[in-house]
Amino acid sequence: MRIYKAKDYKDMSRKAANILSAQIIMKPDCTLGLATGSSPIGIYDQLVEWYKKGDLDFSEVTTVNLDEYKGLPKDNDQSYYYFMHKHLFDRVNINPNKTYLPNGMEMDSKKETQRYTELIQSLGGIDMQLLGIGHNGHIGFNEPGTSFEKDVHCVDLTQDTIEANKRFFASADDVPKQAYTMGIKTIMHAKKIVLIANGIKKAPIIQKAFFGPVTPQVPASILQLHNDVTLIADEEALSCL
Ligand code: F6R
Repeated sequence: MRIYKAKDYKDMSRKAANILSAQIIMKPDCTLGLATGSSPIGIYDQLVEWYKKGDLDFSEVTTVNLDEYKGLPKDNDQSYYYFMHKHLFDRVNINPNKTYLPNGMEMDSKKETQRYTELIQSLGGIDMQLLGIGHNGHIGFNEPGTSFEKDVHCVDLTQDTIEANKRFFASADDVPKQAYTMGIKTIMHAKKIVLIANGIKKAPIIQKAFFGPVTPQVPASILQLHNDVTLIADEEALSCL
């Protein structure tokens, strides 16, 4: 595992964007696994800036996202589809037909998880997977206690997550109760993994995930067993090491 210490959020975003763009330059038709949340927004902004300068070309790139809420239409501003278009896809020359997310409007979980698993396999796997990390060590929507053996699956959101997310919706009743997510097994099959973390609140979990025991209670701890992981975190997030 490589650990890069960044000064702050901007520096973290720039370092991670450098690694992603190196991947695109080395393999223009690569498959990138992407994440949503607050952590990667600075990376997407940086990639857009380099694209606008003419330094990056997304025309052959394929993307697969980690997760999506079940039951949210694409045009809902809380859907991950909406997020990805707003922060990256609509701002670069990526082919929209090569940007994949789980289909939140497919109510048949078995059908959708199988479709997404097969889709990732048909792309020949993920060349580089970008990950954020939750305060409890979750990656994607794989919460503590999830089996390491899972492929793409449908999860019931915990009451905590529903409570935490309700500020983005009109009421708690409007917060989706389920989500589709790549499983730990899917994530571990990525050839390279880049995990980003910033802020003091992430410091304890970064210590546990990368230097504690490998346990389903800390889903990100499995990354210790992957042979190509890069952790890029700011000084605050690394302050418990
Ligand atoms: C997002 C995702 C989540 C986030 C995690 C951290 O697609 O799968 O696991 O990466 O919740 O979120 P932020 O970046 O908002 O702290």
